[in-house]
Amino acid sequence: MTVPLPAEAAADDLSCLNARRSVPARQLQAPGPDDATLERMLRAAVRVPDHGKRLPWRFLRIAGDARLALGEALVARALQHDPGAGAAMIDKDRQRFAHAPLVIAVIAKLGADGKIPESERFSSASCVCFALLQAAQACGFGAQWLTGWPAYDQTILRLLGLGPDERIAGFIHIGTPKLEAPERERPDPLALLTDWAPT
Ligand SMILES: Cc1cc2nc3c(=O)[nH]c(=O)nc-3n(C[C@H](O)[C@H](O)[C@H](O)COP(=O)(O)O)c2cc1C
Repeated sequence: MTVPLPAEAAADDLSCLNARRSVPARQLQAPGPDDATLERMLRAAVRVPDHGKRLPWRFLRIAGDARLALGEALVARALQHDPGAGAAMIDKDRQRFAHAPLVIAVIAKLGADGKIPESERFSSASCVCFALLQAAQACGFGAQWLTGWPAYDQTILRLLGLGPDERIAGFIHIGTPKLEAPERERPDPLALLTDWAPT
């Protein structure tokens, strides 16, 4: 006897999954999701596999003027690193968080754990990023998962309030697409599929 899936999961419809694509952050504009819609997205995003139920992730919202302040901090940090940085690079850093009206940083909470490897906990945080992308698109928004140097710079991580055992899994930029995102060629999964056979 087979045990049925929950009714809401029974529909054999992959259309939403198959339509998923990123909208580049610079193509995103206001409006972003309101608070109620964001909450729905986050509720979908936390339904990820999580070995040991460690909850190895949290969310940080970067919105409104905070996006611009973060851009200025990035410029200051970039100039500290490379005082001769060109105007184009400086402008890129200033604008990094300025395009989409909302950026959700998905923060992986790691640290010592006697049972669950760090890689599995980071994988769970990465699943949250992907689920949030899907939820954003299902709610009618465009989204892109970005990292870039700010995700790995200790000064910026401290500024964002990350603890020593925390890492950025992704910055999820969310907003209204200015135009339809072009599709890119997708791999043929069957070309990637082999059968294992005992030798
Ligand atoms: C962990 C991770 C980090 C990423 N960081 C960047 C990034 O910093 N800059 C970028 O252009 N794309 C980055 N990407 C790729 C985009 O999220 C996206 O996959 C790409 O724009 C292709 O679009 P698609 O999702 O429709 O295939 C990253 C993807 C992952 C999984």
